[in-house]
Amino acid sequence: MNTSARRTLVVVILLGMLLSGCQSTGFIPLTGDPALPTPHTPPQAGTPGTLRYLASQHGFLIGAAVDAKALQSDPKYAQTLSREFSVVVPENVMKFAEIHPSRQTYNFTAADQLVNFASANGMLVRGHTLLWYREDPAWVKSGNYNKTQLEQILHDHIATVVGRYKGRIFAWDVVNEALDDNGNLRDNVWLRGIGPQYIDMAFTWAHQADPNALLFYNDYNGEGMSAKSNAIYNLVKGLRERGVPIGGVGLQMHVTVTNHPSADDLKANIERLAGLGLVVHITELEVRLPQPANAISLEAQAQVYKDVIDTCLAEVKACQALVMWGLSDKYSSVPRIYPGFGSALILDPSFDPKPAYNALKDALSGK
Ligand code: G3I
Repeated sequence: MNTSARRTLVVVILLGMLLSGCQSTGFIPLTGDPALPTPHTPPQAGTPGTLRYLASQHGFLIGAAVDAKALQSDPKYAQTLSREFSVVVPENVMKFAEIHPSRQTYNFTAADQLVNFASANGMLVRGHTLLWYREDPAWVKSGNYNKTQLEQILHDHIATVVGRYKGRIFAWDVVNEALDDNGNLRDNVWLRGIGPQYIDMAFTWAHQADPNALLFYNDYNGEGMSAKSNAIYNLVKGLRERGVPIGGVGLQMHVTVTNHPSADDLKANIERLAGLGLVVHITELEVRLPQPANAISLEAQAQVYKDVIDTCLAEVKACQALVMWGLSDKYSSVPRIYPGFGSALILDPSFDPKPAYNALKDALSGK
């Protein structure tokens, strides 16, 4: 290579480094391949006979959303969590409004406690969630910021939060519920102020902050084959085609015994997402029951849990984790969010197994 060509190459490389280091002067797509799913370090297997141990025998992750206050105040909660699960996800304490309550203030205390608990118990952590319209803080929504300012705020939030837990959070819900129930981009301060590319930016900046984290788009009502799941598929397909470092899709799975995706539709959806090179996590499984629950509804609930995990295990190369939106009915948010419903999780308020727990255990045991 002659001197002139070498000089040109050096200029191109330096320009590339300069551009990729740019953070708020507009959207800089990542060059090169999108982040392929990073194989995570397996969590400790746990005690034989537990869900955690049985899942580990399949190379499968089983987790629960964690109520930060319960973790600190209820010893039985903490013991059950570390015994039965290999993955934890914060139910609330890493959301934008909670962890970044004002522009100059971050509140990491509860998030640190959860990450430290996971480290101490050989568990993995899913981060939830960097961007969600319902948890955009008032200071962002009312700040009347321009495009460059919003990009700076978004970049700084993601770089600070993801950077703090670099190497300690194996997967992030980067963008949560960016599509409305019609499959259109949901109105929010970022879409209005930056444009649709806010999604690309969020993933790009999360990847820059922790290149080894598996980055997810997470949503509800997109678990089976439907207009919503088609919209999710098209959204993430576009991200992949633009070289955005998305590694997976989270299927929330907030369902009832009469309203849930069929096993066939869930399988088809997992397979088509895997066809994009993406990993799938079931991220927020809960099967809420009309109250009061009874033996019949609890058995029907158990069947839904079994159908979901059976489908995942049959696709375990792509569907790598089943995370429930809590562990015990004692702390479930369902009664507050869905009045008249409850009993959505696999352990009762005394942390004793329900039929759903036994159904998961049987499925993981190959029964
Ligand atoms: O911690 C405060 C407490 O100090 C205060 O006294 C109380 C009354 O205002 O509010 C408490 O915060 C509440 C928080 O849950 C903790 O309980 C918030 O108001 C309440 O909005 C928040 O609800 C959470 C909701 O997301 C909104 O962030 C639910 O617990 C949580 O289960 C739910 O989870 C979402 C996922 O993140 C995304 N997918 C849907 C799922 C269910 O809605």
